[in-house]
Amino acid sequence: MEKLAGTLPKAELHLHIEGTFEPELIFSIAERNKIKVPFASVEALRAAYEFQDLQSFLDLYYAGMNVLRTEEDFYDLALAYFEKAHAQNVLHAEIFFDPQAHTARGISFDVVIEGLSKAVSESKKKFGITSKLIMCFLRDQSAESAMETLESALKYGDRIVAVGLDSAEVGNPPQKFKDVFDRARANGWLTVAHAGEEGPPEYVWEALKILKVSRVDHGVRSLEDADLTRHLIEEQMALTVCPLSNVRLKVFSHLKQHNLKKMLELGIRATINSDDPAYFGGYVSDNFRAAQNALELSQEELENLARNSFHASFLTDAERAKYLSMVDDAVKHWHGLNRQDCCQHD
Ligand code: HPA
Ligand code: ZN
Repeated sequence: MEKLAGTLPKAELHLHIEGTFEPELIFSIAERNKIKVPFASVEALRAAYEFQDLQSFLDLYYAGMNVLRTEEDFYDLALAYFEKAHAQNVLHAEIFFDPQAHTARGISFDVVIEGLSKAVSESKKKFGITSKLIMCFLRDQSAESAMETLESALKYGDRIVAVGLDSAEVGNPPQKFKDVFDRARANGWLTVAHAGEEGPPEYVWEALKILKVSRVDHGVRSLEDADLTRHLIEEQMALTVCPLSNVRLKVFSHLKQHNLKKMLELGIRATINSDDPAYFGGYVSDNFRAAQNALELSQEELENLARNSFHASFLTDAERAKYLSMVDDAVKHWHGLNRQDCCQHD
């Protein structure tokens, strides 16, 4: 079954491109840009990845991306992710980026999006992966700063599929960004938001009612509210769950305590994603495998998670149908292999 977790075709819907920045690549890009990394070695940097909560992670996450300066840097970062994703059978990815974390350092929005867009095109050619970009606003910055960021993105209209909301959640409720999200929707962009990771279920309600999100990122605290749980099931609202992230950031003390299996049993449209794989110890199939082991997910639940990832994506209906039939084929192939296994042993 571990093998099935790896081989199932998947879409990844909750992935911060800056969170795929592996220490080796941080050091090599720092060297190219003649920037000193405040860690003695790759190993010393990796050893610092011990987090108490979301903020302690964010401090290192923002420090790491400081070496990204040129279009080529953003291209290299994204292409390295696509290579890993391809090896884990990701067929489609919807990728967050944090423009304010770069513009605040004097890197122009254009440099960021040009580098990422080139990697998006190249990954389609090289790996056959389709992908879309989701521009996130840093919720611990002002709504005015988010609106300015939105203005600078308008000219890139169709290179961006949606806007999102990330960074420090508690104390920065979704309603703070109502006007920005209204403007984004008026521009034809979809909306998503991190909510209910560390923040309370009320933040999930606000993301749904005020920001009119099409998916909730994380959303694991939703189950504390019975009405919200019912609403998510009725609406088949997708949650982009990130199991290894939740354990590394101490949202759950152990993967065995995670509520992902409960969500599936309740009929919530949950998906599995890697969030910031360079920091949290695994890419998407690693998350599938870890969750499967800890929660004893059934074969049917694994298949369900793979299907949910395409149902919850922003693909067109025709694209979605094509990918779902690829999941069906992989499952049939898997059953065929297992039948052969069983009979050869008989
Ligand atoms: N939560 C909030 N902000 C983030 C995260 C996350 O898991 N990863 C990168 N920015
Ligand atoms: Zn996230």
